[in-house]
Amino acid sequence: MTQPRKVRKAVFPVAGLGTRFLPATKAIPKEMLTVVDKPVIQYVVDEARAAGIEHFIFVTGRNKAVIEDHFDIQVELYDTLRNRGKLDELGNLQALQPKPGQTSFTRQQEPLGLGHAVWCARELVGDEPFALLLPDMVMQHEKSCLSGMVDLYQKVGGNVVSVEEVPDEDTHRYGIVGVGEDISDDGFKINAMVEKPMPGTAPSNYFINGRYILQPEVFSILETQESGAGNEIQITDAMLKLAEKQDFSAYRFRGNTFDCGSKEGFIRANVSFALERADIRVKVEDDLRRMLGAL
Ligand code: UTP
Repeated sequence: MTQPRKVRKAVFPVAGLGTRFLPATKAIPKEMLTVVDKPVIQYVVDEARAAGIEHFIFVTGRNKAVIEDHFDIQVELYDTLRNRGKLDELGNLQALQPKPGQTSFTRQQEPLGLGHAVWCARELVGDEPFALLLPDMVMQHEKSCLSGMVDLYQKVGGNVVSVEEVPDEDTHRYGIVGVGEDISDDGFKINAMVEKPMPGTAPSNYFINGRYILQPEVFSILETQESGAGNEIQITDAMLKLAEKQDFSAYRFRGNTFDCGSKEGFIRANVSFALERADIRVKVEDDLRRMLGAL
């Protein structure tokens, strides 16, 4: 087993075009669409911070500068809030603010695929294990998904992906893992990985839900990686190669996951997070009941 090290850095690939969300994403990155009152990317950064991540690496593209602005200090806004006595609002913003030097931004000049976006972060990550979080996937759970993964990684080392179960008829839409020996109630060894298996051929019902802890050797594999499915450089192809030399374990995530890159996932996320919020829950619940009753 490779000795576990501290997972200090997280990579957020945000260079995709978001075509499933046009026209909303023509000028606004999909990562900046809001779930209740926070942009999608903020939920994912908060999840990483809760897991002890100290450095946040964003792989951006053209038209994504607003993401960098979001994580910067807004001097005029902060002054105005202070002058108007809106100190709670100011405190909330400051609590979300990364500390100086905690963020890095690099550009993927062309959207050649998720694997390529990850490879663009190689110099910023360096020679250490790192977390990879797909910002489309927003998780809702008391314990951050990445925290659970880090706990498992500290026990087993190697590479860890987070998984959840899907119905048989949906396995062909996802990256599916094969189930090996149990590690604990929270995880198991992976003995196979298949990207979008043909119906009826999936090795299990566990799909990779967009969270990874990877060893830095993945970068040298990505360096020479050919394009795969969809003519894009795929992270799963690189993981399959890495799995020939290193262990992969799965962390069973037991919260809610919303695919905010799809319209229905985004709407479900908004409803679910709104129902968790003490300030708006009752009103939203009443409205939903009324709307559904009216159907
Ligand atoms: P998706 O395929 O879901 O994102 O990639 P997309 O291409 O933006 O969306 P659609 O399908 O056109 O609507 C998953 C994640 O990988 C990033 C995306 O930003 C998203 O967070 N990604 C994908 C990149 O950073 N670069 C790429 O070349 C491809």
